[in-house]
Amino acid sequence: MGYRIVVVGATGNVGREMLNILAERQFPVDEIAALASRRSLGTEVSFGDKTLTTQDLDTFDFAGWDMALFAVGSAATKDYAPKAAAAGCVVIDNSSLYRYDPDIPLIVPECNPEAIHDYKNKNIIANPNCSTAQMVVALKPLHDRAKIKRVVVSTYQSVSGAGKDGMDELWDQTKAIYNPTTEVEPKKFQKQIAFNVIPQIDVFMEDGSTKEEWKMVVETKKIVDPSIKVTATCVRVPVFVGHSEAVNIEFEEFLDEDEARDILREAPGIMVIDKREAGGYVSPIECAGDFATFISRIRQDSTIENGINLWCVSDNLRKGAALNAVQIAELLGREVLKKG
Ligand SMILES: NC(=O)c1ccc[n+]([C@@H]2O[C@H](COP(=O)([O-])OP(=O)(O)OC[C@H]3O[C@@H](n4cnc5c(N)ncnc54)[C@H](OP(=O)(O)O)[C@@H]3O)[C@@H](O)[C@H]2O)c1
Repeated sequence: MGYRIVVVGATGNVGREMLNILAERQFPVDEIAALASRRSLGTEVSFGDKTLTTQDLDTFDFAGWDMALFAVGSAATKDYAPKAAAAGCVVIDNSSLYRYDPDIPLIVPECNPEAIHDYKNKNIIANPNCSTAQMVVALKPLHDRAKIKRVVVSTYQSVSGAGKDGMDELWDQTKAIYNPTTEVEPKKFQKQIAFNVIPQIDVFMEDGSTKEEWKMVVETKKIVDPSIKVTATCVRVPVFVGHSEAVNIEFEEFLDEDEARDILREAPGIMVIDKREAGGYVSPIECAGDFATFISRIRQDSTIENGINLWCVSDNLRKGAALNAVQIAELLGREVLKKG
C-alpha cells in the first residue's frame, strides 16, 4: 500500500520538479493529484510516463489524502494549507509562511531529521529557503566536527528562484538585447537581469539587509544551531537554474582543509569535486537536474585562526525546494506513517 499524494502548484517551477522527483525516486504513490489555480484548470503536467490534468485548488477536498506538497506563494498557502492540515493531510510547505513558527518543524533531512515528529503540532512541516538548504547540508557535518562560530556567505542565485516569471524575464530580456526593436522592462526583478547582477533578493529590512539575507541567518539557526552567527549578501545573477555560494566558515576548533574535504566526501547529499586545476570545480550549469549539493574550492582561510573557504553549488529547484520536500515526505513515511 502506498500514499495518496497531492502536489499543490503543479504547473510552477517547483511543482513540476516535485512531480519529476516523486517519479524518479519511485516514491510509493497509490494516487496523485496535481493542483493549481483556476487559471490553469485542465493544464497537463507529467508524472513519470503518465500525464496528469490539473485540478482547481479552490474546490479540492483534502480529506483522505496522506500528504500535500505545497509550492504556491505564501498568500495561497495561508488560505489553503490550514484546510488541508485540518482535513488530516500532512502539509509539506515550500513557502516562507510557516518557517519561523516555533511550533512548525523546518527540516533538511540531512541535518535535523529528528524534528519530523513535531509535525504533529499543526500537521504542517516547512521546507527552507533554497539558498539556506544547500548551505546547511555542507555546514552540518563540519559543525559536528569543529563547531562553527560564524559564517560569511555571498550568494549567486539563479532566476528560477523567482518562479517561472523570473525565467521568462531573463529569456525575453536577453532576446530583446539582440533584437533591439523590442524592449523588456524589469518587472519581476528590480533592474535589468540580462547581462547584469542585482544585489537585492526580496524586500529590504530595517537594518539594510534584505529578507533573503535575513532568511539565511534565521533558518540556519533553526536547522543547525542557534549559536551560529551568519552574515549574508544575496545576489541575483543571469543564470537559469542553480544557485552558487561562496562560503567562509570560522570554527571554534582548528579544522584542516584535507580533513574538511574528507568529512564532506562522506556527508550525505554532498558531492565533492575539488581539483586545484583549471575547471576542477562545479559551476551551476553542471548541477541543474542533479540531486547533490556540490562542494568545490575547499581551502584554508589563513586570515583567521580556524577558517575554511568553500564553493557550494546546487540545483535550487531540487535541493533548494522540490527534492528537499520529497525527502521530507520520505522521512515522514519512513518514521511516522509507515505505508508503502
Ligand atoms: N523556485 C525556487 O527555487 C524556490 C525555492 C524554495 C521555495 N520556493 C517557493 O515555492 C513556491 C512556488 O515557487 P515557484 O518557483 O514554483 O513559483 P512559480 O513557478 O511562479 O509557480 C507558482 C505555482 O503556484 C500556483 N498558484 C499561484 N497562486 C495560486 C492560487 N491562488 N491558487 C492555486 N495555485 C496558485 C501557480 O498556478 P498557476 O499556474 O495556475 O498560476 C503555479 O503552479 C513559492 O512559495 C516559492 O517561494 C521556490
